[in-house]
Amino acid sequence: MLTADLDDILDDVFERVTSSRIFKNRDVLLPDYLPNKLPHREEQIRKVASVLAQALKGYKPNNLFIYGLTGTGKTAVVKLVVKKLSEKAVEKGVKLKITFINTKRDDTPYRVLARMLEDIGIRVPPTGVATAELYSRFKKFLDKKGTLMILVLDEIDYHVKKYGDDLLYKLTRINEELQRSKVSLVGITNDVNFTSWLDPRVKSSLGEEELVFPPYTAEQLRDILKDRAEMAFVEGVLGEGVIELCAALAARENGDARKALDLLRISGEIAERSGSSKVTVEHVRRAWEQMEKDRVVEIVKSLPLHSKLILYSILLLTKGGKTTYTGEVYRKYKELTAELGIETLTLRRVGDLISELDMLGLISTEVVSRGRRGLTRVISLESDPEAIRKGLLVDPTVAEVAG
Ligand SMILES: Nc1ncnc2c1ncn2[C@@H]1O[C@H](COP(=O)(O)OP(=O)(O)OP(=O)(O)O)[C@@H](O)[C@H]1O
Ligand SMILES: [Mg+2]
Repeated sequence: MLTADLDDILDDVFERVTSSRIFKNRDVLLPDYLPNKLPHREEQIRKVASVLAQALKGYKPNNLFIYGLTGTGKTAVVKLVVKKLSEKAVEKGVKLKITFINTKRDDTPYRVLARMLEDIGIRVPPTGVATAELYSRFKKFLDKKGTLMILVLDEIDYHVKKYGDDLLYKLTRINEELQRSKVSLVGITNDVNFTSWLDPRVKSSLGEEELVFPPYTAEQLRDILKDRAEMAFVEGVLGEGVIELCAALAARENGDARKALDLLRISGEIAERSGSSKVTVEHVRRAWEQMEKDRVVEIVKSLPLHSKLILYSILLLTKGGKTTYTGEVYRKYKELTAELGIETLTLRRVGDLISELDMLGLISTEVVSRGRRGLTRVISLESDPEAIRKGLLVDPTVAEVAG
């Protein structure tokens, strides 16, 4: 490409984006933005606030366990309540320390303890201290301060699945060892099976109070989107039915507000990029397709190697919209493992992995009779082949057989 062309192209793109009459403030649609109002969460706000408000009287709030599917407002509600609570505590001159840790980001026991120490003003080197030592330092310094601490552990399942519930067990017992301080725990997760990872003692202690966040309905998502859209978009650019369609599509996906907001933002971005002066339902449809493809790429990327090889076999065998069946997939898969010089799973195991791919919605399978030759499964691709290919080729091993 000639440099002049490139300049022209870039000028055009920069011009379109900077002269956008679509967004007034796109950032309010980003997942990390914390709005001041959370429609349809009054009940949950009330409950979290009433549990934690004990702290304003100097009592240790009960531990609180919060569960709800992804995008149901758990993090937003707790962050909002905790923010107001610490303002109130300052106003009333109550000693209160609130620490918010996302254990997906800070997952190791070391990181969690280091964050707790940092929050009470104690610096910790990034590595090199035994976690037992960090734990006793934390107790010592917290007691010196003589304060109440509310410790929020968000996405707590990430920590527990990797490192077990030892730290959580200690933290639920910590008050027995503190003289002048108290710690209350708030645990948040979107994993239905999370409590099965916990020792019954930890489970009952963490769950002194429990709160469930239900998925949003399409109507509720519409209210949420309307509020945000007012802040995010230039007045009048949202075409008819845009908010309604975003709400309806996200409601189908487990009432996920994050998805609804992403969809609205991406629709706006597509409109902006195409130089349109309005966001239309057509832009929403394109945004949805785009998100669906991105989702497929992510799922495929996270599959284990043998599932990827099976999926790659299916991809090859279903070119042009054809169907295939288990035996054919197994032959292709065996060729690939032989080429790579790695072990080959049994036919039975491959059958199980094919069922998993079906459950993930990447392929669809149907059992049909082949007369005397018994039953087989007819397999077809269910997701966008390009998205599947893209996800697969990120893996260097698959890329090797793909040539
Ligand atoms: N009632 C609401 N009003 C306005 N915005 C909301 C509401 N509920 C959720 N949101 C927004 O939706 C997005 C997702 O919400 P949040 O992060 O609280 O979900 P979550 O339940 O913590 O999900 P996950 O389990 O995936 O962490 C955020 O941008 C949040 O601001
Ligand atoms: Mg969250």
